[in-house]
Amino acid sequence: MTIAKKLGRIAGLDRYVRPDKVQGAAKLDSNENFALDGEFVAQIAREVAGRVDLREYPIDELDGLYAQLAKYAGVDEKYVACGSGSDQIIELLLTTLAGRGSRATVFVPTFSYFINRCELHGIRVSRLPLDSDFGLDVDAFAKKAAKSDLVYICSPNNPTGNQIPKKDAVELLDRLEGKLVLVDEAYSDFAGYSLAKEAARRDSVVVLRTLSKAFGLAGARVGYMVSGKKTADVFRSTIQSPYPVSTLSLTIATRILEKADFVKNTIENVKAERERVYDTLAATKGIRVFRSDANFLFIEAGKSYPAIARALKKQGILVKMLGDVAGHAGCMRATIGTKEMNDRFLACVREAAGS
Ligand SMILES: Cc1ncc(COP(=O)(O)O)c(C=O)c1O
Repeated sequence: MTIAKKLGRIAGLDRYVRPDKVQGAAKLDSNENFALDGEFVAQIAREVAGRVDLREYPIDELDGLYAQLAKYAGVDEKYVACGSGSDQIIELLLTTLAGRGSRATVFVPTFSYFINRCELHGIRVSRLPLDSDFGLDVDAFAKKAAKSDLVYICSPNNPTGNQIPKKDAVELLDRLEGKLVLVDEAYSDFAGYSLAKEAARRDSVVVLRTLSKAFGLAGARVGYMVSGKKTADVFRSTIQSPYPVSTLSLTIATRILEKADFVKNTIENVKAERERVYDTLAATKGIRVFRSDANFLFIEAGKSYPAIARALKKQGILVKMLGDVAGHAGCMRATIGTKEMNDRFLACVREAAGS
């Protein structure tokens, strides 16, 4: 195929569209963690910037980070590897352990980046729709996945917010033994469990996690994975490029993990706010809201969608507007922010919905 044809094919694919940056807006569209004090993060960044030597490649810094990540995830260091965001880890796993001509199974709706990257790399994607409450038919999924090389399970799922019940998730890992199973746990810090320990026992299961969400480091680009020793080893030594994360980001990430107890408090606040926002929306006329295990809520606004969209825009509140999703009309995904941000969002939605 000529370069022109290749570029033409790629240009025609679905792509990630970066969200708008609006000065002074309440940013509830990308599931970042504004409930974590900005000064807490900035202070760590300043202190780190003052003592690292950027003339050197990061050599020891990775080891320090592995140790902290392992402690936080409750596994031994040998099961951990990291990358420039979990996006980059996904990319590397797709290109090295799957690749053109292989087949992936996902449930939908799910994190569209994963599907887009599969399509970019010529990996065929089979989709199983979730049910109308976003529950997963485990048996149907396992049967579909049995025909593929690679399985993607986003749990808690973006954009629906729910985590698969643990016993179903473990059943899937058992039934899919030998397939490459990627469990995307970008939001598991806000949920009830993590499969990190299960992954550490299996070379074919990779749990993907990130410091972009709960740890408030989306801009630092630090993601990590937990998998069996062989997979983690090969990923670190050969699949991953030598210096994927800057010294600044590695050291900031390590410092913030040393203060994980502070972050855990914030996570508890976000969870409490999530329940409060849920309750208020559930009591709002014409709005349906879904239970979430993440730091965002999936909301079906139905007929009020256009009015809510206009009102949010006018008031400088950004949420992810999704339109119609899987039989649900007028949907949006709203991040849980600070109490003030959430109050602004709630007041706007309630007024626009006529509640
Ligand atoms: C499900 C899911 N996985 C992965 C990512 C990417 O995270 P990172 O910032 O670590 O690349 C996101 C970010 O939105 C996400 O929603």
